[in-house]
Amino acid sequence: MGIITFPKGFLWGASTSSYQIEGGNRGSALWDWERRKGWERSGDAAGSWERFDEDVACLKALHLNAYRFSVEWSRVQPTPDGFDEAALRRYAAWASRLRSEGIRPFVSLHHFSEPAWLLRRHPRGWFDDAVPARFLRFAERTAAALGESVADWVVFNEPMVFLVGAYGMAFFPPGRRLLARPRLFSPLVENVSRAHNECYKLLHRLQPGCRVCSANNIAALDPARPGDEEAVAAWDRFMHRDFIERTKEHVDIIGVNYYTRIYVHRSFLSPLPGKAVPGYAELVKGITGPLFSLIGGRRGSGEPTGMGWEVFPEGLGRVVTALWRDYGKPIVVLENGIADAAGERREGYVREHLKSLAGAMAAGADVRGYFHWSLVDNYEWGSYRPRFGLFTRERRPAGGSSFYAAVARAGEVETDG
Ligand code: BGC
Repeated sequence: MGIITFPKGFLWGASTSSYQIEGGNRGSALWDWERRKGWERSGDAAGSWERFDEDVACLKALHLNAYRFSVEWSRVQPTPDGFDEAALRRYAAWASRLRSEGIRPFVSLHHFSEPAWLLRRHPRGWFDDAVPARFLRFAERTAAALGESVADWVVFNEPMVFLVGAYGMAFFPPGRRLLARPRLFSPLVENVSRAHNECYKLLHRLQPGCRVCSANNIAALDPARPGDEEAVAAWDRFMHRDFIERTKEHVDIIGVNYYTRIYVHRSFLSPLPGKAVPGYAELVKGITGPLFSLIGGRRGSGEPTGMGWEVFPEGLGRVVTALWRDYGKPIVVLENGIADAAGERREGYVREHLKSLAGAMAAGADVRGYFHWSLVDNYEWGSYRPRFGLFTRERRPAGGSSFYAAVARAGEVETDG
C-alpha cells in the first residue's frame, strides 16, 4: 500500500452545470429542443435552483474546498434587453455562501445552454457577430453581480464539444451539420475563441487579479493502427489544440475535462478534418453509424462506462503532461468522472485517475486542482440514465463518495502500489 500526498492548498472540487441540475430552465433554447428531439425531458433536473442548501451540505460532506457551477444565461437575461436582478442576486448569494463555507467558487459562463431568444434573434448563432457581443454583455453583468465572491471564471465549457454538437452534428441547437465542411465550420472556432479572449480582457478589467480559463475537453488520442499517426495529429489539432492555441495568451490557467481515450483511424472516405475517423461513442452512433467499423474505426476495449466510454486513467497524466510541456501554465482538471449507475466503479476510477495525475505532477506538471464530475446525478443532455453523481438526485451518497471525501479531507490517496 502506497500513499500519494497532494500539495497543500490543492483544490478538491466537484463540477456541475446549470441546465443539468437546476431544473425548469424554460428560457433555454434546449427546453423546446428536448421536446422536438424526443429526448427525455429535463424537467426539474436535480432541483438545485431550490435545493442549493442541500448541494452545499453535499459539498461539505465531501470535504471539498472548491465548487464549479454555471450561471444560466437564459435565467439572468430572460429577454434580449432585460436582466433578472433577482436571479443574479441568487447566484451571487450562492457564491458568497460558498466563500463563507471555505469553498472556492469556479463559475462557468457558457455551459452549452443558451437563451431561446438568442437564436430567434440571430438564427446564424455564433456565425453572427452580434452573438459574441451579446455574450460579453451577459458576462459583464454576471461578473459585476458575482465579482465580490468569485475570482475564478470558466468562460466556455468545452467550446469544441459545443461547436461540434451545435453546428457540426445537429445534437444541440441550432442543429447544423457542418462537421464535414471544414471551410464553413472554421469561422465558428475563430468567433468563439475571439469571444473567449474578449471575455478574458473584460473580466480582468472588471476584476484585476481574477483567474480566467475555458474548460477544454481533451481525450487521450491513440492511432487505431500503425500508419494512423497523422490522423491522430490532425484530429488533435482540430478538436483540442486549435482553440487552445487561439486563446493561450488569454488564460491564467489551462482547464481540462478528461474522461476517456479515443482511437483515431485515417480513411480516405472520412469527410472529417485530416480524414480522421475518431472513435467517439457518440460519433459511432451518429454520423458514421454502421459505417464506422467498415471504414476501419476502432473502439476502446474493457468494460465501457454508462456512456459507452473506455476507462483509461493513464490518459489523464498523459494529457496533463503534454499541456504542461507545451504551455507551461498552471492546470486545473475541471471535470473527470464516470457514468456508473451501480456505483461500483467510481472509487476505482477516481483512485486510478488521481494516481495518473499525481504521476504527471511528480514529473513537474503544475496542477492546482481536481474537480469531479459531478456533484449530483444530473440531466445528461437527453437522458437521466447515465449517473455521474457523487450523490443521487435525492442527495443520497452514491458509490465512491465516501472514498472521495476521505481523499479530499486528507489530501492523500491510498494506492495499492
Ligand atoms: C460536459 C458535461 C457532461 C459530461 C459527461 C462533459 O463533456 O461538460 O456537461 O455532463 O461531460 O458527459
